Amino acid sequence: MALDWMLDFPTKMIMGSVRYSAIVLATTKLIVLDTRDLSIRRVFSPSTGQEIPFTLGPEVGPCGQALEIQFGTLTEGQVVEFAVSYMTSPGSTALCWMTPEQTDNGTLPYLFSQCQAIHARSMLPCQDTPMVRCPYTAKVTHPSEFCVVMSALVKGQETVGDRVVTSYEQPKPIASYLIAIAAGDLVKVDISPRCAVYCDPTMRQSVTYEFADMEKYLTVAEDIAGPYEWGRYDVLVLPLSFPYGGMENPCMTFASPTIITGDRTMMDVIAHEISHSWTGNSVAPETWEDFWLNESFTVMLERKITSRIHGEKFFDMAAINGWQHLRDDVMRYGETHPYTALRPNLTGVDPDDSFSSVPYEKGFNLLCDIQRRVGVKPFETWLHKYIQDHKDRNVNTDLMVAHLQEHFANSPTVFDGIDWHLWFDCPGMPPVIPGFDVSMLDAVQATVARWAEVGYNTTEKARETSQWHHQQMVIMVQTLAESPIPLTASQLLRLDHDFNFTNGSNNADILLVWLSMCIKAKCTFHEGRLVNFLRIGRMKYARPLYRTLFSVAPDKAQKIFQQMRPKYHNIAQKMIAKDLGL
Ligand code: BES
Ligand code: ZN
Repeated sequence: MALDWMLDFPTKMIMGSVRYSAIVLATTKLIVLDTRDLSIRRVFSPSTGQEIPFTLGPEVGPCGQALEIQFGTLTEGQVVEFAVSYMTSPGSTALCWMTPEQTDNGTLPYLFSQCQAIHARSMLPCQDTPMVRCPYTAKVTHPSEFCVVMSALVKGQETVGDRVVTSYEQPKPIASYLIAIAAGDLVKVDISPRCAVYCDPTMRQSVTYEFADMEKYLTVAEDIAGPYEWGRYDVLVLPLSFPYGGMENPCMTFASPTIITGDRTMMDVIAHEISHSWTGNSVAPETWEDFWLNESFTVMLERKITSRIHGEKFFDMAAINGWQHLRDDVMRYGETHPYTALRPNLTGVDPDDSFSSVPYEKGFNLLCDIQRRVGVKPFETWLHKYIQDHKDRNVNTDLMVAHLQEHFANSPTVFDGIDWHLWFDCPGMPPVIPGFDVSMLDAVQATVARWAEVGYNTTEKARETSQWHHQQMVIMVQTLAESPIPLTASQLLRLDHDFNFTNGSNNADILLVWLSMCIKAKCTFHEGRLVNFLRIGRMKYARPLYRTLFSVAPDKAQKIFQQMRPKYHNIAQKMIAKDLGL
């Protein structure tokens, strides 16, 4: 695909065209592309300029409308070239257009895209499934004061009047959901010859500190998965409204500013997005029903990378934390809910609705079970081979299992205890209880139990925990939150005195649990911070917090949401509104 786009900030639209070059796999009269909320101006032959007739089908929920392009006859093996000229709509579900006031520094408007899982179709007509992949080039015309980045390598820039045209190329075949663009007042901070961070100019210093180890993460990832084949690895730090922690857009990870904590404790998000360069962006699932292949392999790589850098025990700590998120989600859905199956049936389902920690953590536990059976070294050898054998190709669950079994064909009984059907198709928690090392967890829980005995009334508390790792602090607040006798408002106030979570913590993982506890205990001291915290549009934080607030004070939850709503991304607005019964 060759994209030729103009960014129009006043109307919040992308105008332009896409030129397609396709090989016909089977004789047909039609080419069908996915679209959603697009105004199609014309379809034509780029060589002759001749119009090609098309129709737009009816709207089918989140799937949008089929663009059916009518060719005379296309015969197998033929190369066909055609172009679509179109405009996006201001309500495009992929695009978030922000006014200067909505950005962090208030100078220029801002645009960013988020296409996973099925939003690329509201940015350009495409075959919007992970099974179809192609390289792309882009020429983007924009006002000269903007810096524009894409999930591609920059090829050049020229000035045309008061505008600039920047060109990009993504030479590797990628799925539509990995096409990405962002534009705003951005500076580039170099980290290493192949790594840089793009961010708001006011963040230059904090970004330099936070991302200092990025090259190291990438090198360790290569050590496990094989050479990094995408050329550059850059990160864009987005405004607070970015709905995810990170999005693995090729060459240019999009990241939430919440990962900048001042102490590098959220670099696991970067390890995760780096890992997608192999699992997801190179080795890809055929359909979103196999989304777990993307995320669980990536979580496995992420935890292998971070534990090589910070120490082995962090693998188990992260795994235990993940297990708790999984348990929370499975309890919330209910243990028989179809979305708690690793390979759910998504017919008629909006993939945004089925998103949870299940594909991440249940899948990770399956991979851990496999690793335990075959041993760490042989597992890593297989993992490397699985990635290399499927490079730039699509896989599904059955192919993955077949590859695994073939690799370990010499020890055919090693997987005898695994009930694949139970893992893949049945709902609920994993069928195997993991044997992670709980020693660090135990230490935290024992300490909290001692505090409980004295009514949380000891000023030694903060000193005792001063040497704890961030993960232990998260588990500490979680343990408090799960106390069989809920903490009272005055006990929480006392704890806040010792730890200064409310105003002193910069870590959203801790604040999420802490503020939820304060809401349930009907405290008042946290309320200013809560509203401020809800400026974060990252759904991992906003959704559970709104849900908790809704369960205690529904009117208040709806009122705060109505006030914040315009600041959130479309997807976050949609999901939170559903959560709050709006
Ligand atoms: N690709 C996902 C984000 C995503 C998933 C966006 C599905 C849209 C639909 C990304 O790699 C991810 O998993 N992000 C996590 C990071 C975490 C697991 C370290 C997030 O956003 O919290
Ligand atoms: Zn991921």
